Amino acid sequence: MSAKKVNIAVAGATGAVGNQMIACLEERNFPVNQIKFLASHRSLGRELKFNNEQIAVEELGEDSFKGIDIAIFSAGGGPSKKFAPCAAADGCVVVDNSSAWRMDAEVPLVVPEVNAGAIARYTQKGIIANPNCSTIQMVVPIWAIHQRYKITRIVVSTYQAVSGTGQKAIEELDNQTRAIIAGEKCEHNVYPHQIAFNCLPHIDVFLENGYTKEEMKMVHETRKIMEDDTIRVTATTVRVPVFYGHSESVNIETQEHASAVEIKALLNETDGVRVVDDPVADIYPMAIDAAGQDDILVGRIRDDESISNGINLWVTADNIRKGAATNAVQIAERLAKDYL
Ligand code: A2P
Repeated sequence: MSAKKVNIAVAGATGAVGNQMIACLEERNFPVNQIKFLASHRSLGRELKFNNEQIAVEELGEDSFKGIDIAIFSAGGGPSKKFAPCAAADGCVVVDNSSAWRMDAEVPLVVPEVNAGAIARYTQKGIIANPNCSTIQMVVPIWAIHQRYKITRIVVSTYQAVSGTGQKAIEELDNQTRAIIAGEKCEHNVYPHQIAFNCLPHIDVFLENGYTKEEMKMVHETRKIMEDDTIRVTATTVRVPVFYGHSESVNIETQEHASAVEIKALLNETDGVRVVDDPVADIYPMAIDAAGQDDILVGRIRDDESISNGINLWVTADNIRKGAATNAVQIAERLAKDYL
């Protein structure tokens, strides 16, 4: 990469996604000049490692961004709403992983494999939004299909890992699983019900239309990223007792006819996607295989026999990597290479 060396900050560096962002910057040899780790007051005194160097965590504040070129945020919606404009005012470009800015008309919502060109619009507000994890892993394969066959409708059901909620939820699933196996009382603090050995059809808050905010994020974000408001999308999002890796059943309807064989061939050539589809040998995408790597795994590719132009897919990805940290770092790479 011929990018210039960048002063970069990671806000929310002590969290599940923040930690992975740091790992991605290291793994991908991001051209770092200076790096800064930001978190809440609670983390003062903590140090985090970057390229074998111990770096003290600083408290996120209005003045954290002087001299910083790019800040990648994963500290939750509140801190993003409050501090991203401060960063932008200091000339820093924010890549924000929260939902705070995603639907702002002046903020591009970017998945590099789909709409890298939208990055150029960062100049409007100094902020680029990273989409929701479930949306990212769905739009990469369906974008390839949309370009060739024009998707008219999507029905998606998700099976989402607890790591998407954050570090405390990872601990809650671990604690509950151990407690139940030991025959002890199981407590819940993060979710409204027990998550171990259970499925919760409830991610983020319920809205007036009866859908959850997570479900409506998938509807609105998909249309914004694909720049097509005519695509009809309906979603059911479910939290399942899996630590890492979201899975999705995706049913699509297309204008032009596409067979499962054609879709498989197309996805075999799609950047960021790995086709894992040999059911006779019990080979299909699984969360445990998606976890820890960046490809979006697609399998169970079938003709939908209930309609004339329909396809069913099963899609899994690491929600912390491609669903969050990797996508944000890929955006930062493009910024560093083409815009700064
Ligand atoms: P801290 O560890 O100091 O609480 P997760 O999504 O895994 O729960 O992580 C959330 C991340 O966002 C953590 O790094 C957390 O820092 C940070 N964070 C949460 N609230 C704030 C805040 N008000 N100001 C700065 N950082 C915050």
